[in-house]
Amino acid sequence: MIEAFGAKVHRSPSDVTEIGRQLAQDPRNWTGSLGIAISEAVEVAATHPDTRYALGSVLNHVLLHQTIIGEEAILQMQMAGDTPTMIVGCTGGGSNFGGLSFPFIREKLAGKISPRIVATEPTSCPSLTRGEYRYDFGDTAGMTPLMKMHTLGHDFIPDPIHAGGLRYHGMSPLVSHMYELGMMEAVAVPQTECFAAAIQFARTEGIVPAPEPTHAIAVAIREALKAKETGEETVILTALCGHGHFDLPAYDQYLRGEMVDEIFSDVRLAEAMSSIPEVSFP
Ligand SMILES: Cc1ncc(COP(=O)(O)O)c(C=O)c1O
Repeated sequence: MIEAFGAKVHRSPSDVTEIGRQLAQDPRNWTGSLGIAISEAVEVAATHPDTRYALGSVLNHVLLHQTIIGEEAILQMQMAGDTPTMIVGCTGGGSNFGGLSFPFIREKLAGKISPRIVATEPTSCPSLTRGEYRYDFGDTAGMTPLMKMHTLGHDFIPDPIHAGGLRYHGMSPLVSHMYELGMMEAVAVPQTECFAAAIQFARTEGIVPAPEPTHAIAVAIREALKAKETGEETVILTALCGHGHFDLPAYDQYLRGEMVDEIFSDVRLAEAMSSIPEVSFP
């Protein structure tokens, strides 16, 4: 679509940046990642005086901007005459989730509501549930400033699951901070469960979701089924942060029974963590 409008898209790691050429030599990097694409974009911006780079997720200003989602959701819930008992969203860099949940957290802190707040992530890239709260780089090559965040190590390359937007080694410092304060929970979900949930959602709601929000849909379904069993009154709010029309090959693979769940072993986790820099304060 971008090329239809006259731009040129380079698959990352690309051969048009020094960092892309270097990283492409390591076979681990061939599937690419958000971290590698960010390194390449930062290099282009740093070496061209007429070019700027705006990170699309992770940073405070992006989350703040996206809080319009939660502000609107509060008003929509009022119009529906209901109050969520649980808010569930998917986390890649944390922006759509922070955007949805932070205005509700404000209401919760003011004592007006008390929903559970749940972040969902892929088992292949579990930065909140298995990563550490450390200073780390936001990109693979280590060009960004260090940020205190949940991370799997900046040179970690997640398995090539279909939810490309969730294949990021780190997590927004604000979401990580909330998690450390115990103000929210996190759950990791394997992609086949996500796609099963996506099919159920499509057949119920008439919308084919992007692979990213299927993580939140899967957990919403888990929780709804639990509530059905216990008879507990539950109102679950989730954000459908993208449609799946660009991801139909993923649905094709799932419906043919060819989708697999990779195991992310402790050994690989420890290896990934070894790249995190040691930071000490005087
Ligand atoms: C549809 C969709 N949802 C979610 C994400 C994850 O980003 P974030 O966690 O910053 O919302 C992406 C990222 O590319 C995306 O494309």
